[in-house]
Amino acid sequence: MTKEPQDNLMEKIVALCKRRGFIYPSFDIYGGLAGFYDYGPYGLALKKNIENLWWKQFVTDREDVFGVDTVEVTKKEVLEASGHVGGFADPMVTCEKCKKRFRADSLDQARDKQGKCPECGGKLGEPKQFNMMLKTHVGASEDDASVAYLRPETAQGIFTNFKNVVDSFHPKLSFGIAQIGKAFRNEIAPRDFLFRVRELEQMEVEYFVKEGEWKPAFEMWRKEIHSFITAIGIDGNKVSELEVAEADRAHYSKRTIDFEFEFPFGRKELYGLAYRTDYDLKNHATASGVDLSYMDEETKEKIVPHVIEPSLGVGRSFLAVLLSAYTEDEMNGEKRVFLKLKPALAPITVAVFPLLKNKPELVAKAREVFNLLRSTFRDTRYTVAFDDNGNIGKRYRRQDEIGTPFCVTVDFDTIEKPAQPDARLNDIVGQDSGRSGGDQSVTVRDRDTGKQERVTISDLTEKIKSVLS
Ligand code: GAP
Repeated sequence: MTKEPQDNLMEKIVALCKRRGFIYPSFDIYGGLAGFYDYGPYGLALKKNIENLWWKQFVTDREDVFGVDTVEVTKKEVLEASGHVGGFADPMVTCEKCKKRFRADSLDQARDKQGKCPECGGKLGEPKQFNMMLKTHVGASEDDASVAYLRPETAQGIFTNFKNVVDSFHPKLSFGIAQIGKAFRNEIAPRDFLFRVRELEQMEVEYFVKEGEWKPAFEMWRKEIHSFITAIGIDGNKVSELEVAEADRAHYSKRTIDFEFEFPFGRKELYGLAYRTDYDLKNHATASGVDLSYMDEETKEKIVPHVIEPSLGVGRSFLAVLLSAYTEDEMNGEKRVFLKLKPALAPITVAVFPLLKNKPELVAKAREVFNLLRSTFRDTRYTVAFDDNGNIGKRYRRQDEIGTPFCVTVDFDTIEKPAQPDARLNDIVGQDSGRSGGDQSVTVRDRDTGKQERVTISDLTEKIKSVLS
């Protein structure tokens, strides 16, 4: 079994994502729009599974984090106070000849020194700050007063609801407010598939602490991020931490650690953990005139909490998961591609096939097994699919490529060998499951080894459950 050499791995992932319904370039039929991608059915399932694991670990498994879901269009005053209107900018250079724009910090060094455009060789202008927020207008008039922005981070909706959550729930410090949602950045150079896009999703917690307690909270979230990386199957050997130098930190941060991943295009930021101090709450209090302090019941003092922020991109998680899972090997003399996804992430957990789709008795029995498994896994995060498309070899290839951990095949032995009475199956499917013939067993194929095992239908759910847990 080999991991793919890094050079063409991205191309293979991009192609697999399109072919198998994970990711489509947005507006493809109109030639696409740089930096925008849509999630297809399997991509959506994988994305939701990543988000659900995050939500469980960072919100519902804890007693000190509250979830919110706030709007994306953001009032200009909020982003003025947060420093984004003035400071959320990247240095950009424009080619005087072809008028293309480039991130000044990502231009090839040699050309940069010569001041030449990497596209046409024209003269590059001086670097200018380019604000990355997407602007819109709210209401009928398009004047300065109606300007609003699509939020560049989900965090600001959390800060503007800080007082609401405190007033409703009276949480004790330390506590967090979390959300998963879209953010928008008019990146100068969107690139590397999902890595740098213009419409992205973030999973963020703003964790409010007393100033003197920020360090242990920072360490606690640092560990949580590493454990999430493991939980979603990102290759931990490719993850490292970078202590971000002061000059490179966001305007609000007093300490930032970037969690970097070895992408095929270089070691780059996967997630960030920042100590945002009391910067946001203080600025919003000043700009709005609303008291955003917190009454510390122990000391009877009003304090402005400080903030630790773990910020995780959904798309970068998705890409790192795929890069970690993509595997090639040879099976039965043929080259095979499969995604070694954690079962909890796989878009389909178990696929059920009839060996042949033109044999009604096989199809009926496979449907019965499918219904049995579906009813067993109905209230879990696991999904069961019925697949009779193409021949069995094609079905295995397709399921391998989307990372389905188990394939269950109903064949002639299932229905034609001497019968074993099975009351349990009758109870579950609520009918006579037609077991007047057959050995009542099916083939269970393991994605990673390709090994096939004969399992009786009555033992099937327990067998699969035991491997999943
Ligand atoms: N609230 C803090 C914040 O937004 P950030 O480092 O700018 O900090 C946090 O972004 C995370 O969001 C990044 O670590 C990355 O996972 C993701 N992210 C940021 N910009 C992105 C982009 N253009 N495309 C995809 N993901 C992005």
